Amino acid sequence: MLLIVDFGSQTTQLIRRRLKEIGVTSEIINPEDALSEISSKKPKGIILSGGPSSVYEDGAPTIDSKVFQQNIPILGICYGLQIIALLLKGEVIGGRKEYGPAKIKIKNFEGKLTKGLPEEFTVWMSHGDEVKKMPEAFEIVGLTESVPYTFVENDAQKLYGVQFHPEVEHTEFGKIILENFVELCGVEAKLEEIDVDALVKDIQEKVGKDAYVIGAVSGGVDSTVAGALCAKAIGDRFFPIYVENGLMRKGTREHVEKFFKQFNVQPDIVECEAEMLEKLKGKSDPEEKRKIIGNFYIEIFERELERITKMGKNVKFLLQGTIYSDVIESQGTKHASKIKSHHNVGGLPEKMKLELLEPMRYFFKDEVRSIGKKLGLTDEFIHKQPFPGPGYAVRIRGEVTADRLMKERIADDIVMEELEQADLLSKVFISFAIMSGAQSTAVKGDGRFFGEVVALRIVESQDVMTAKWAQIPYEVLQKISSRIVNEVPEISRVVYDITTKPPATMEWE
Ligand code: XMP
Repeated sequence: MLLIVDFGSQTTQLIRRRLKEIGVTSEIINPEDALSEISSKKPKGIILSGGPSSVYEDGAPTIDSKVFQQNIPILGICYGLQIIALLLKGEVIGGRKEYGPAKIKIKNFEGKLTKGLPEEFTVWMSHGDEVKKMPEAFEIVGLTESVPYTFVENDAQKLYGVQFHPEVEHTEFGKIILENFVELCGVEAKLEEIDVDALVKDIQEKVGKDAYVIGAVSGGVDSTVAGALCAKAIGDRFFPIYVENGLMRKGTREHVEKFFKQFNVQPDIVECEAEMLEKLKGKSDPEEKRKIIGNFYIEIFERELERITKMGKNVKFLLQGTIYSDVIESQGTKHASKIKSHHNVGGLPEKMKLELLEPMRYFFKDEVRSIGKKLGLTDEFIHKQPFPGPGYAVRIRGEVTADRLMKERIADDIVMEELEQADLLSKVFISFAIMSGAQSTAVKGDGRFFGEVVALRIVESQDVMTAKWAQIPYEVLQKISSRIVNEVPEISRVVYDITTKPPATMEWE
């Protein structure tokens, strides 16, 4: 296996994912533990991740330089490359920030990692600092116009480095670079099939013969597939709970009911829209809204637990559709910046005394879909657009009022309908309307007025960590815009968000 030393990059988990796709297992470790982990785990190769710090910053994460004397191949990515340069007496400079695409030119095709690469291709950069001088014995095998030390190798010491991120989907041929690294580490790549029967059996064994399980279902792919696994494992000893808090998309409740009908399981529908709006009243900070919604879920679950227990059912477990990217994005890692808290992880109050069941905690989204497929679920259920747990609350900038929620629902519905009509819905990763909170002038009829601006966000992505705005045909955008200003009351204009991720996230909050 390989070890990934995490310096806090948002894409560290993608390195692990790419290795998994290649058929190699890896483990993510903290830089402080690198030397001891290497001596106990004896990895065949080490990858040093990127990170948000500058190598010269006070308290910037680093590793013991003895790591370089172990005769184990090491690949440094971004900050990882800069750490190699710094610790081996090269030089790093700050200042020239670069985020997004750059063109690399390969100089030496005989390099260990450049095998099979074309002469020129696009790589994805995300850095503040860069290497000014590499230590001796490093050869430049590829470079961009602005960064000379973009791709370096020191084969004698088995040290390699790239300033760009080979793990993100928008770096072309990134997988070839990682495959070349795996090959030189002498690791045998072996793709493993997911054993769905084992997942079902695992739930049966954990839950036993007479305990009951409750679980929140949202209609999203993750909780749907987790629910299907659980229903298959224990049938009607599973109580799915759907919280109708008014922040979900139209038709979600019916979708959930239709889904569980296949398993003869009746989901528990908890109606609480008025209560939810009351709790969100006057709150406009995104993280505060997330927290309020998360806490309200817990409150509802406590009530439901009490109700089901009174029926004489011994509820011992809580099912959650947590997947690997939730775990990483919410809890982060030791050196990562926390971007936002995705509320569907953790938060289980101690007094509930329920054990967590998370059958998909170590799987990525596409793997979850393939588990769903193996379970015989149709595309309607496993190819649904992701929808955030806090729902419309994070798509209404600022305070969520009944009036703005009504407008958001109509506008969002128009976006979905028109993309479906144009046969584009299944081709984009995520699409929605945002009540932007900005006001602008409009003239409707003969009157001038100030009304809210609706923004459209439609992006393409595979790995969630990076995204491009979708090039939706003008006539489709025109139709969406006309319908929103005509059908949603008091909207003054519609704008299209043309920002990539990074730097912008997909959601506006
Ligand atoms: P961002 O905005 O971080 O979105 O680029 C990446 C993916 O995560 C979803 N998202 C959330 N999901 N709770 C969730 O369950 C949240 O608070 C949350 N915030 C963002 C987003 O919809 C996209 O699919």
